[in-house]
Amino acid sequence: MFLSICAKLNVTKGVNMIQVKMLKKAMTGNFIVPAFNIANFEILKGLILATKETKSPMILQVSESAMNYFTDDIMLGIVAGLRKMKLPISIHLDHGHTFDVVKRAIKLGFDSVMIDGSTLPYKENVRLTKKVVNYAHSKNVSVEGELGVLAVANDEGVLSDGERFTSPEQAKEFVALTGVDSLAVSIGTNHGINKYIGEPKIRYDILRKIEKKLPNTPIVLHGASLVEKKYVDKINANGGNITKSIGNENLLKNAYKTHISKINMDTDFRLAYTAAVREYMHTHPEKYSPRDYGQAGVEEVKNCAIDRIVKICRSNNKM
Ligand code: G3H
Ligand code: 13P
Ligand code: ZN
Repeated sequence: MFLSICAKLNVTKGVNMIQVKMLKKAMTGNFIVPAFNIANFEILKGLILATKETKSPMILQVSESAMNYFTDDIMLGIVAGLRKMKLPISIHLDHGHTFDVVKRAIKLGFDSVMIDGSTLPYKENVRLTKKVVNYAHSKNVSVEGELGVLAVANDEGVLSDGERFTSPEQAKEFVALTGVDSLAVSIGTNHGINKYIGEPKIRYDILRKIEKKLPNTPIVLHGASLVEKKYVDKINANGGNITKSIGNENLLKNAYKTHISKINMDTDFRLAYTAAVREYMHTHPEKYSPRDYGQAGVEEVKNCAIDRIVKICRSNNKM
């Protein structure tokens, strides 16, 4: 049974089946698995509540800096707690840059890891990613690699399309050489609050070419936060000072129809949380208990996540 599912899904024997299976299902099933970052405890709580309420699968992502913030001992407790909840939640290392951090995440019990060699020369990216795949697969952990650069500029100035965007031909070779289970691509999105210089645009034409070259590989889209003006306005109305923000509003409405199977969002929950906390503190100057304003943050994160799950990922009830 196990082997026949593996053969059908074209996945390596033994590698964390649940997440790979879910991503493959999302690839052709007109939905996207939400991969939302946990930057603090309140965001973690809001995302768990959103998962429960929407009956959506969920990948909770932890960056190296978030891991350092939580600390490894507390992270172990979070992983154990999540397992006990028996929700369709998996835990993923986001943007691992070294073999050591991958080993650390696997030791903590993560289901999957990302090795991000995207800023390395191509051959080094292949070498590092392959090393991680060999190790992670031997531990039953699946691997996301990245090809293409998620940045509009570097120290030398604005990057050309050729430097930034994923080459479909190279993507095919990269997957074959490394054996990654999913591939993060660069097609226009960027991390953080300011995603575009000039007209916001996602290169779905490049994505279509990648899909043709890699018909069985789930595609991951990073930098997918919408960066809604309502959060920025609320932050600024309550003492904040965010002068410029430009996100993906209206650009991801049809992403669920493509091979994008995992969509990464972090900034949106940082904004939602900060907006709610700032507003709460401003309107309740007499309050000082962290659980009062913390809960306001939890609720806003939950609502923001539900909105993305329903409108962008269409993963509600896809448990
Ligand atoms: O894509 C990167 C994430 O937004 C992680 O950011 O390292 O500040 O947690 P962080
Ligand atoms: P955002 O900055 O758009 O939220 O992207 C987050 C991300 O890609 C995490 O890996
Ligand atoms: Zn990212």
